[in-house]
Amino acid sequence: MNTESLKITGIAGSLRKDSYNRVVLKHLAQERPDSVDFSIYDLKHIPLFNGDLEENGDPEAVVVFKEAIEEADGLLIVTPEYSHGVPGMLKNALDWAASVTNENVLENKPAFVLGASPAMTGTAFAQVQVKQTLAAAGALVMQQPEVYVGQVSNKIEDGKITDEKTKQALDQSLRAFIKWVQKMNK
Ligand SMILES: Cc1cc2nc3c(=O)[nH]c(=O)nc-3n(C[C@H](O)[C@H](O)[C@H](O)COP(=O)(O)O)c2cc1C
Repeated sequence: MNTESLKITGIAGSLRKDSYNRVVLKHLAQERPDSVDFSIYDLKHIPLFNGDLEENGDPEAVVVFKEAIEEADGLLIVTPEYSHGVPGMLKNALDWAASVTNENVLENKPAFVLGASPAMTGTAFAQVQVKQTLAAAGALVMQQPEVYVGQVSNKIEDGKITDEKTKQALDQSLRAFIKWVQKMNK
């Protein structure tokens, strides 16, 4: 890793056009320090995991996804919550990334998980599951700070975060993650 600059790949666990979680991800990308290269990867092209497909080599969309993780010094995931759990398409993408058949790109990867939802709990249940999946794959998951953006529909307007406390918490957590990435890559 270049100690002067580092690269973060960010993903949102939603395919929805007006996804709150993507708004949070874009906010973090915009607020990054100049020394940080922050790329957003869209999961919409990832096929359903199938070991038979994988045996013939990862599908092209998966190759691109895994490269986006591999090339990054840190992985940042903003997850929604469905039925008190991780959205299936996010879990599916992480399973492709973690599978050892064609290389587990999550191993030793510094990672940060946060999320936003209209409920008070702000994706707490989903975050636990995403963190478990990442830990099982050997990722180095930052445990603190935790960011649960609850009641998000009151905090985002026209695709922008309007709540100052939320912006502050997000900006602090990004700075903490940058430190975590630097520490884990030493
Ligand atoms: C099938 C389904 C289940 C949901 N379950 C939960 C839930 O358990 N907890 C929660 O906070 N929100 C739940 N929601 C609401 C989502 O948090 C909400 O749709 C959110 O906007 C999705 O994230 P996005 O805006 O990034 O697409 C659920 C939504 C769907 C479609």
